[in-house]
Parts: sequence; structure tokens; C-alpha cells
Amino acid sequence: MRHLLSIADLTRDDVERVLDGARGLDGTEPQPVLRGRLVLNVFYESSTRTSSSFDLAARRLGATTMTLKESGSSADKGESLKDTVQTLSAYGPSVLVMRHPQAGAPAFAARHTDAHVVNAGDGKHQHPTQALLDLYTMRSALGRLEGLHVAIVGDVLHSRVARSLVQALGLVGAQATLIGPPALLPRGIEALGCETSTEIAAIGDADVVYVLRMQRERMLAGASYVPSLREYTARWGITPERLRPGQKVMHPGPINRGVELDARVADGSASLVLEQVRAGLLVRMSVLQELAVGAARLQEVA
Ligand code: CP
Repeated sequence: MRHLLSIADLTRDDVERVLDGARGLDGTEPQPVLRGRLVLNVFYESSTRTSSSFDLAARRLGATTMTLKESGSSADKGESLKDTVQTLSAYGPSVLVMRHPQAGAPAFAARHTDAHVVNAGDGKHQHPTQALLDLYTMRSALGRLEGLHVAIVGDVLHSRVARSLVQALGLVGAQATLIGPPALLPRGIEALGCETSTEIAAIGDADVVYVLRMQRERMLAGASYVPSLREYTARWGITPERLRPGQKVMHPGPINRGVELDARVADGSASLVLEQVRAGLLVRMSVLQELAVGAARLQEVA
């Protein structure tokens, strides 16, 4: 793997290699395979989980890390993305992790750096490491991926997480149903390989109920997607009463408690939310190893 920009670029073997690599790191002292390497984290949008886990993952593998956030950088003075990428690449990073509000920005960066680029979320497009950590979490909790049914509920329209996860579930032989208000289910999304429903009852058959955040920051001012947040919660919010015994609940975070997810569920025994956070560290370590070390190994063989 040269870069990790989209789940669409991966094969099932790629996914299984990353997940197996993460499992190999669980509970073991990691090898400092990135000693002497630099991992750059460039975040043009806010983040808690993704930025902290990439930073920790790189350090656990022995790398030096540097994080640049848009606010306070020379992007504030109008510096272009290309100039920023070329400037930071002059330090010789092995890996450049990028989050950006524009779809395609990490792919653009990959054309202007020798580093391996990881997409840490670009607009509504993709969040591939989120999908990989979600698969890892499901496999750990349920013992398999093949044949699982995952109901993805909420603001699908603005969700890069949903797009990546549907594709990832398809690669491993699992089934996805997207559920939400009509205005938050993009027309033609079934082409990704999923079913859709506007009825919350469609979660009934799912092994996992994957709850999406209402992304109010991406909603157009003045546009009406749901009659009100109160009505959204009443019709699509995930409460203990809506779950059947044995169903697991996931959320990529951050959670709007009391909007898309009831606090009793978020903190209850069905919730895998903190397992997702722990998986994020292991899977991102595995991705960094795969990119920086796997590529070097391939060059040695060639
Ligand atoms: N799930 C996720 O991407 O969370 P952060 O925005 O906190 O990184």
C-alpha cells in the first residue's frame, strides 16, 4: 500500500492484513519499527480521537511526530495547500496524515509529497481508518465479520464514516442498511452496495446498530433536513427501548448525547464506543506499519 486514501482502493486481503496486524499488537509491547522516522499530522478540521490516536500510534512505534492545525498556521495567511504540503515535506516525513474539509484534499497532497499519505477524513468523502477500526471492533466483539448485518442510523448525507463503512462491510461480506430521515439519505447511495430505509424499525434485524452524529456544522444555513432535533430524536434516536437483547451499539464520536444516542445506551453494556477508541490506536499503528515498513520491505525485495 503506497497511500491510504479510500476504502475503495483496498482489497479484502489489504483489510485483513491491517486487522490482523492490529490484533498482533493487542497486549504486546510494540517494536519501534518507525524509529528515526517522522510522522506528520496535518489537521484542517477539529479532531480528538483521530489526531490523538495517530500521534500516540506513531510514538508507540518509535517515530517522531509533529502536528499542524490549520488555526495558527500560515494557512491563516492564505498559504495554499500545495505550498503547505511541499513545505512540510522538506522535513522528510515518512507518513503524512491529513484531515481536510474538502473531499480529495489528501489525494491532492499525495501528488505533492514523497511521504505516504493517510486520509484522516476529507469532507463528506472518506474516513478509511475509521472504517477499519470499526471492522476491528465488530470482529473482536462478535467473533466474525462475514454475514453480519449493520444498521447505520442518522445523518448519512454528511457522513464520510457511513460511506467508508458501507464499502468496508461489503469487502468483508457483511451487509449494511442505511436508515434516517429522507432528507439525510442521499439519492443513489444504494450504489455503494447497501439497502436504505426511513423507518427506525429497520434496525430490528441488525447485529450492530451504528449511530451517526447529526453534523450540524455541515448543514446549510436555512436548509431544513428534519422538522426539529426533538422530532429527529423521537423518530430516529437510539434508546434502550428500541434495541433488542444482544444488539451492539457503535458511534464514531463525538456523540450528541440525547440527540442521536440516549446516554443510557452510550454508557450501557451494549455500547462498544470505548472499544472503538482503543481499536483506533491499534489499527492506526497497524496502518502506519503497513505503509512505512511494508513499503520498505517491498523495495528490498525488488
Ligand atoms: N471519529 C472521529 O473521527 O472522531 P474525531 O473527529 O474526534 O477524530
